[in-house]
Amino acid sequence: MPCKWHPLTAMENAAKDGFTCDAGPTVIPVKCTGLVKVSFLLKLFAKGFDGVLVLGCEEGDCHYYNGSQRCGEIVKETQEILEIAGVPGKRLGFHMISESGGKEYKRVLGNFLKQFKKTTRRRKRVASRGRR
Ligand code: FES
Repeated sequence: MPCKWHPLTAMENAAKDGFTCDAGPTVIPVKCTGLVKVSFLLKLFAKGFDGVLVLGCEEGDCHYYNGSQRCGEIVKETQEILEIAGVPGKRLGFHMISESGGKEYKRVLGNFLKQFKKTTRRRKRVASRGRR
């Protein structure tokens, strides 16, 4: 879920460089990540998204003053709620990225997917223990 300003441009730059992602993420651009609400993030998981990566503009680049910082707090709060609900909080990620951050986008997405796979394996192990 990229902010439509700098992060979306970074994603487009990465695509122009030939970057593709096997995971086939659904891209939901937002006007500013500062407008993202806890309830919206939770609804995405309730609707079946396995993971959500929110990408905001870097500090000082947000077009709406401090949207990225606000979003960082919203993401933390949502991660805590997810943990209580039994969903690993690391399935929700947040990162600030610059317009020229095509390479950074690739790295951030790669790290997020690696982390995501780890939580999936852990959940499967926990689930199989529960069946014994
Ligand atoms: Fe991009 Fe606010 S305008 S995070």
